[in-house]
Amino acid sequence: MSHFSYQNGVLHVENTSLTDIAKEFGSPTYVYSKAALTENFSAYANACKANGRDATTALVCYSVKSNSNLAVLNLLCRLGSGFDIVSGGELLRVIAAGGDPRKVIFSGVGKTHEEMRLALSHDILCFNVESTAELERLNQVAGDMGKQAPISLRVNPNVDAKTHPYISTGLKENKFGIAYDEALAAYRKAASLPHLRVVGIDCHIGSQLLDDAPLLEAFDRLTELVDRLAQEGIELHHVDIGGGIGINYNGDQPVAVGDYLARLFAKVDQWRLDQYKGAPIQLLFEPGRSIVGNAGVLVTEVEYLKHGDAKNFAIVNAAMNDLMRPAMYEAWHGVQAVQQRATAAQTYDVVGPVCESGDWLARDRALAIEQGDLLAIMSAGAYGMTMSSNYNTRGRAAEVMVDGDKVHLIRKREAASDLFALESTLP
Ligand code: LLP
Repeated sequence: MSHFSYQNGVLHVENTSLTDIAKEFGSPTYVYSKAALTENFSAYANACKANGRDATTALVCYSVKSNSNLAVLNLLCRLGSGFDIVSGGELLRVIAAGGDPRKVIFSGVGKTHEEMRLALSHDILCFNVESTAELERLNQVAGDMGKQAPISLRVNPNVDAKTHPYISTGLKENKFGIAYDEALAAYRKAASLPHLRVVGIDCHIGSQLLDDAPLLEAFDRLTELVDRLAQEGIELHHVDIGGGIGINYNGDQPVAVGDYLARLFAKVDQWRLDQYKGAPIQLLFEPGRSIVGNAGVLVTEVEYLKHGDAKNFAIVNAAMNDLMRPAMYEAWHGVQAVQQRATAAQTYDVVGPVCESGDWLARDRALAIEQGDLLAIMSAGAYGMTMSSNYNTRGRAAEVMVDGDKVHLIRKREAASDLFALESTLP
């Protein structure tokens, strides 16, 4: 069910009109649907349950980088989610949102000493280690603290995720993970370090995947390694397959989460039966976009219409600093007029006020609009607010969460004074 629909000619999120939201909170504003978030998380949780899994055999660790607002994290934590983080800052957010650090996995190629200490002091579930140099650093930091760090190695399974090169991460040439052929040696090294406890294996092959075949192939590559390691006496407790399931931006038809998980769990069961007399193993998932992407829109107001020979422009009050994806990846986001008009549509490029030609949100869209109208930039819940910046000294947008006919402000709009509050002039 879509939680974004027209009612009496006005676009609503659940039962709340975006016109009312803009009146109360201004624009640009990110608007999220609590029902959509809940439904998207439940697709994972229900599939785990339907396949006979509980928390000890399957854990969803929401990827915080896709949308890290405290209200989003808190909602997901109440639904039972764990979290995949990539910085100390994200860990502090998870904790501030009421998340359980023992359900946190820490990914990323560049963990600092300080971040390792922070994560160890909170007893996180696992460090997803991406290099042998990181193994050594973690061993030393854990030793200094009198602790043993639980680790997984991010292995690069070298499968083609068939997605945008900027967000494809599982190929040999990417900076991520440990090369498949070097993984056994890296595990042996990890097992020999006294302050590390080898608990898992992980991968993440890319984002916005429409088909699950590359993920299932990656899983097979990982299980081959798990078996080799078991023969050497290194027994793993979990397999983390990463995130990556895509969403519908422009008629895309991503695999249904329930179908993907059913196929994956069937593979897990068969493998465990063949090799380990059915002894279970825990599966971890790190989804981001498929949980938040289509649960949010960015509402913006048309400041000016500029009609020309070559192009028409709708100049809006949101810009590339609010939503980077079009400028950065030429990403396509749907654009819908909040108030439907009976007048004829014209073709517009939807652009922001930032001083860059790359500052566009959508191109060549048929829109029946007038100056002062509101537009909704669709599918903006993932990698929208989290990638925003203050370029051009633009305060970041407000964020609200709709719950039926209630609206909660979950992040205030930044004021200009907030933007230079940490700066000082020379004496
Ligand atoms: N796990 C790891 C280790 C990751 O690097 C990512 C995303 C995820 C999980 C979550 O992946 P998802 O389920 O969201 O596909 N900014 C880009 C996307 C970058 C993805 C980075 N890694 C965009 O706006 O499309």
